[in-house]
Amino acid sequence: MSIDRRTFIASVGGSAAFALMTPSEKADALEAQMQQRLNEASTQTSGKFPTVADIEAQIEKGPVRSGVGNIFVARRGNVQRLAPMPEKPSLVDFFKLRFMATSNHVLQSANRAMKNGMSEEITLACLLHDVVQELIKVDHGWWGAQLFEPYVPEKTAFAIRYHQALRFYSDPANGYEYPDMYRRIFGEDYKPEPYIEATYRMVRRHKWYLEPRMVTTNDLYAFDPQVHVELEQFLDVIGRRFKQPKEGLGFDGSPVAHMWRSLSRPDAPL
Ligand SMILES: [Fe+2]
Ligand SMILES: [Fe+2]
Repeated sequence: MSIDRRTFIASVGGSAAFALMTPSEKADALEAQMQQRLNEASTQTSGKFPTVADIEAQIEKGPVRSGVGNIFVARRGNVQRLAPMPEKPSLVDFFKLRFMATSNHVLQSANRAMKNGMSEEITLACLLHDVVQELIKVDHGWWGAQLFEPYVPEKTAFAIRYHQALRFYSDPANGYEYPDMYRRIFGEDYKPEPYIEATYRMVRRHKWYLEPRMVTTNDLYAFDPQVHVELEQFLDVIGRRFKQPKEGLGFDGSPVAHMWRSLSRPDAPL
């Protein structure tokens, strides 16, 4: 979850009040605001959502574009030094050392998929569906599928790629309602772009439609800070379904190795 800096400063009484706060007071205030945002996401009723124009008006009010990956931006203060990656990094190493901003969300989604009796392909898709947002957020379904395609079952890559388009189209028969979170993020009058609509129509008729649909159904739209899921719960699924390259992710010469290296070394200047 990201908090707009200006909104945050205004919420504590403006920049003068903010300047007088100690670091721990700032941290507490930030936690309180994040908690409030969690509650809003789950309880917000219609009529209070921004419009597309409201959201576009925010573009020039911050130093960072919305589509930038989490690992490149600090959520509070400055970015921190990252722990070095092992010589031959595994998926588990990336979860522990690089997927800090997305892991809780995907673990909760995969936990829900497992509880709902989803196939291992779908459970794995839920576990991986948003972690590419550490690298880049815009078009994250396509980026995510590309990142994982060499290492996961075809159905899993299909599910990751197309969950992004399907999330804009409700399917009550399969347990998916359009989430309020998207009215908040995209605007209440948002209409998906033509390429998203065309993708939705294609996937809706596809024999594997339920693969990405089940990712959206098991996705968590109101993050629950009380629920904590450990990666250990999914080590068997990863072991059976994820083809870990022996050279390590980033060093196996695959067409996506550079994407893994970029996650390993986001401080490299070029
Ligand atoms: Fe997603
Ligand atoms: Fe998600």
